[in-house]
Amino acid sequence: MDMSRRTVIAGAAAAGITAATIGSAHATRGRTPVKSLFGKLADGTKVYSWSLANGGTRMKVLSYGGVVQSLEIPDRRGHYANVSLGFDNIEDYVASSPYFGALIGRYGNRIGKGQFTLDGKAYQVNVNDGANSLHGGAKGFDKRVWDVEPFTKGSDVGLHLYYTSVDGEMGYPGTLKVKVTYTLTKYGDWRIDYAATTDKATVVNLTSHVYWNLAGEGSGTIENHELKIDASRYTPVDSGLIPTGELAPVAGTPFDFRRSKRIGEDLREAHQQLLYGKGIDHNWVLDKGISPRPEWIATLKDPSSGRTLRMASTEPGLQFYSGNFLDGTLVGTGGKVYRQGDALCLETQHFPDSPNKPSFPSTVLRPGQTYRSTTVHSFSR
Ligand code: BGC
Repeated sequence: MDMSRRTVIAGAAAAGITAATIGSAHATRGRTPVKSLFGKLADGTKVYSWSLANGGTRMKVLSYGGVVQSLEIPDRRGHYANVSLGFDNIEDYVASSPYFGALIGRYGNRIGKGQFTLDGKAYQVNVNDGANSLHGGAKGFDKRVWDVEPFTKGSDVGLHLYYTSVDGEMGYPGTLKVKVTYTLTKYGDWRIDYAATTDKATVVNLTSHVYWNLAGEGSGTIENHELKIDASRYTPVDSGLIPTGELAPVAGTPFDFRRSKRIGEDLREAHQQLLYGKGIDHNWVLDKGISPRPEWIATLKDPSSGRTLRMASTEPGLQFYSGNFLDGTLVGTGGKVYRQGDALCLETQHFPDSPNKPSFPSTVLRPGQTYRSTTVHSFSR
């Protein structure tokens, strides 16, 4: 994989834009992230916002949930927009966030009935989505306060985020020590490295839940974004969005994104799977499988602004969620109401309900092992 392909710089040069206008890129390189108070939880716990900038990308990260509260990138003319949905206050995150920008754990996506058996022992984890468990249960990693440590390393800037999930939290076995590193590179790439260890056998599936709208949060539908996913199969689900276990071909279905396709193109097909998901809310089986290093998996482009997100990951799966449950009740960072389809999520992961699907890649973590996962977000215009 060629992570050095730099269309941001190349595109800017072609458009006659100087390095200085690309951003803060060079000015901020190596600058230590800046911390400020974002708000307080009901029990008085302070929540901080960390501002980072490098290579033309600017982001704000909260100690609450490791939330990416804002992520700004330039369009083809150099105009910045915040391309990630969020709130401007901690109260809304606590009361009503549908995982905006958050770190997800212990188990990203669903576990059927919140039940699984591990080494002959039955576990019941917290059920918070109809009959099933979603994103770690009612109080997952998205609702925990993380310890945050800023760093600069060579031309990189970033944050280490730490959280220890105690044995039995949300029903999961083992004390899980989690370290997530957010890195902004000198090219403006945002890289996430996840690591975790346990003291008892458990299951782990960590991901990030950014809601992307490359035209800018609050600017309307993402149906005109174009998406390519390097996957020939997906995991069909039942009406509760639990995989049936089948790895079905995408060929000839609305799930075929092997060639870049406008997201709205097939979204209204009367396909049973789209009815179940109220749109797209499915896991793609990436052709590359699990890889020791991040490999390119998907490209999202907003033709109107030129902003493009290219993703690489070590994970075998990608949940593409087309913002189906945004219903016009939440007011975002810029004061605009978020409606259905105003953003999409691309969550790198192991497949949903893996603890109950022996044929899926395993999500079991044992003492002495280290869970590792990496996803890179590369921006261009
Ligand atoms: C899931 C959706 C869910 C959403 C919550 C997504 O990751 O796939 O089914 O509604 O998170 O906002």
